[in-house]
Amino acid sequence: MNCMENCSATQDNEHLKNEILRLKKEKNAVILAHYYVDGAIQDIADYVGDSLALAQKAAADCASADIIVMCGVNFMGETVKVLCPDKKVLVPDNTAGCSLADSCPPDDFARFKVEHPGYTVISYVNTSVEVKALSDVLVTSGNARKVVDSFPVDAKLIFGPDRNLGGYINSVTGRDMLLWDGACHVHERFSVENIARLKAEHPDAPVLVHPECKRPVALMADKVGSTAVLLKYALESDATEFIVATESGILHQMRKDAPHKTFIPVPPSDSSCGCNDCAYMKLNTLQKLRDCLLNEKPEVSVAADLAEKALVPINRMLELSK
Ligand code: 13P
Ligand code: SF4
Repeated sequence: MNCMENCSATQDNEHLKNEILRLKKEKNAVILAHYYVDGAIQDIADYVGDSLALAQKAAADCASADIIVMCGVNFMGETVKVLCPDKKVLVPDNTAGCSLADSCPPDDFARFKVEHPGYTVISYVNTSVEVKALSDVLVTSGNARKVVDSFPVDAKLIFGPDRNLGGYINSVTGRDMLLWDGACHVHERFSVENIARLKAEHPDAPVLVHPECKRPVALMADKVGSTAVLLKYALESDATEFIVATESGILHQMRKDAPHKTFIPVPPSDSSCGCNDCAYMKLNTLQKLRDCLLNEKPEVSVAADLAEKALVPINRMLELSK
């Protein structure tokens, strides 16, 4: 981009931001954003957080806002709609799916449940609303251990759909939960080799890893946790450099909150340079956010019977997270 183009792109962004702020006020809307969306959206959102915090915030904002815009992926929009059925819930792009949610088709999961009678079903929020409706309780990466620990040690538990998060929770709790064989294509792209290379270059930098990563990668971590947990660790640590193995959007918040520290993204295993982006999260743009506020669509809809069933495990999770 040359200087003139750069200047006009900045002006366009400023114009979009002003319009978003005007429409938000006019329509009494609240904008929620996940840490993985583009930094410009995180900066304009009313609230930025991990999956747990966003669900908690949605539940809290139900009463005050007329419109809730969820900048993230579809399962997050569905969770907000289930929590706030009477509100208009919008998403900037309703094609923003999730490979992890896709790795757990509801019919297959229902069969798996039938094949294992007597098991309690714990599901990660990164699932379709249909899978949520088949679950006894939900978890996020921020509260999975707490929720699992609320069950007796000898409880028969199914954990879906993320085999990596489930395997990690099994390892830290000494449990043997039955795992659904699903994964996030973004986090599975991190490799031991790339982390080892960065660690050799930055020996004092703690390694921060999201639990959706494969076990050998998680074993290299100084801290394993949800995006919010990794952010908190980075802010509180005395270290000045960090090696970060999660989706690259979190770097925006880390650099903003700790400008004097250095955050080094681990490149995906199939590329020696570049960040590991979730293409679904990056479908959220300022332009689409402005358009969705202006046109009040795409709107998230969830069938009432499904929402009623999915609300039970969501509320159980929120209750256990207090
Ligand atoms: P958290 O922000 O809850 O760690 O979730 C990570 C994720 O993959 C969301 O899609
Ligand atoms: Fe889904 Fe992975 Fe993208 Fe999160 S990062 S939305 S789990 S594909």
